[in-house]
Amino acid sequence: MSSRGFLSKLQNVETPCYFYDMELLNKTLDVVVKESSRYGYKVHYAMKANFDPRILEAVRKAGLGADCVSGNEVKGAITAGIPASEIVFAGVAKSDKEIRYALEQNIFAFNVESGNELEVINQIAGEMGRKAHVAFRINPDVDPKTHKNISTGHADSKFGISYTEVDEVIASLDNLKNIEIVGLHFHVGSQIRDMKVFENLCNRVNVIKDWFKKSGIVLKHINLGGGLGINYDDPESELIPDFAGYFAVFKKYLDVEPGQTVHFELGRSIVAQCGELITRVLYNKKTASGTNYILVDAGMTDLIRPALYSAKHKIVNLSADKGDEVYTVGGPICESSDIFARGIHLPVTKRGDILAMLSAGAYGYAMVSHYNMRDLPGVIYSDQL
Ligand code: LLP
Repeated sequence: MSSRGFLSKLQNVETPCYFYDMELLNKTLDVVVKESSRYGYKVHYAMKANFDPRILEAVRKAGLGADCVSGNEVKGAITAGIPASEIVFAGVAKSDKEIRYALEQNIFAFNVESGNELEVINQIAGEMGRKAHVAFRINPDVDPKTHKNISTGHADSKFGISYTEVDEVIASLDNLKNIEIVGLHFHVGSQIRDMKVFENLCNRVNVIKDWFKKSGIVLKHINLGGGLGINYDDPESELIPDFAGYFAVFKKYLDVEPGQTVHFELGRSIVAQCGELITRVLYNKKTASGTNYILVDAGMTDLIRPALYSAKHKIVNLSADKGDEVYTVGGPICESSDIFARGIHLPVTKRGDILAMLSAGAYGYAMVSHYNMRDLPGVIYSDQL
């Protein structure tokens, strides 16, 4: 049940805080498992979206693996009980310490993002007397048609090995004795709602896979990354994203060889809709130019997406339903970009009202900060209220 159903309990809760609808999370995970296992696909949850321990517990119980982007995320996944054999580790600038830790744990695969990184992993693995399992992250140069700050697979991006460099990297493998190539990895961007992008990705992957095959390299695994988008405009109409349609695109367009396994790294689509940022209205004021402000106790330190990407999170007033006013909603941070929404319609809203910012379960708490020496927001779970 969304926070609307818990209003009486929220009255006494300190704000700002994140509210997680655990029932919705579990339902979403059930759909992910059902739709991916239809084709034998393996999903690794992208921990960067939300590393809350209760969320990780639900992910582990559902049987998903983990996609990590730092040594601490690898550690967090292992602490949450996710087996190392189901952990993938990406990142353009993995430190030696992180590489060493992941090698000690014997993770499923390092998603390697440059020829230089490959040499370093080879060297560290040699020093440790280990063999590193490596998937090449290839930059496929596919336009993800999403916000430029969250697209990663275009030709000039810092992510992945450029497809123009693939031959050189394959040639270097003879000298890298501590590396075992287990597969390929791709990720073109996030918040992708146009399924055509994933179709284009498959077509590109089919070609790139063939280059490796021709070089005699056996690819056991193909990892297509994450990126499935969610409905921020009207979340209540689509609480669970279209996982059936998403996986069906790969089933239809991706060429898979016998024995090859297909992997995904979904983050946002699994956790975004189960999370809401709950905040209280502190003040109303009107500017000389007529803008009607609501100032709330949550700021960009609690949810940075609107300030960073001009992202829109639907805002609802849980305490009031009378009238219709146009408001701009701002927070307490000393930055003009600390605005959650401009010119939105809400019922007449006043001090003490409780507002919920929807679809905040992904990249919400995960990106909080102490800027302005702020406290971090609290966290409450629907099944503990
Ligand atoms: N795999 C890799 C290699 C990634 O870089 C990402 C996200 C994912 C998987 C998961 O993607 P998802 O399924 O969540 O779209 N902070 C931004 C999003 C950054 C995404 C970074 N990479 C936001 O708030 O929109």
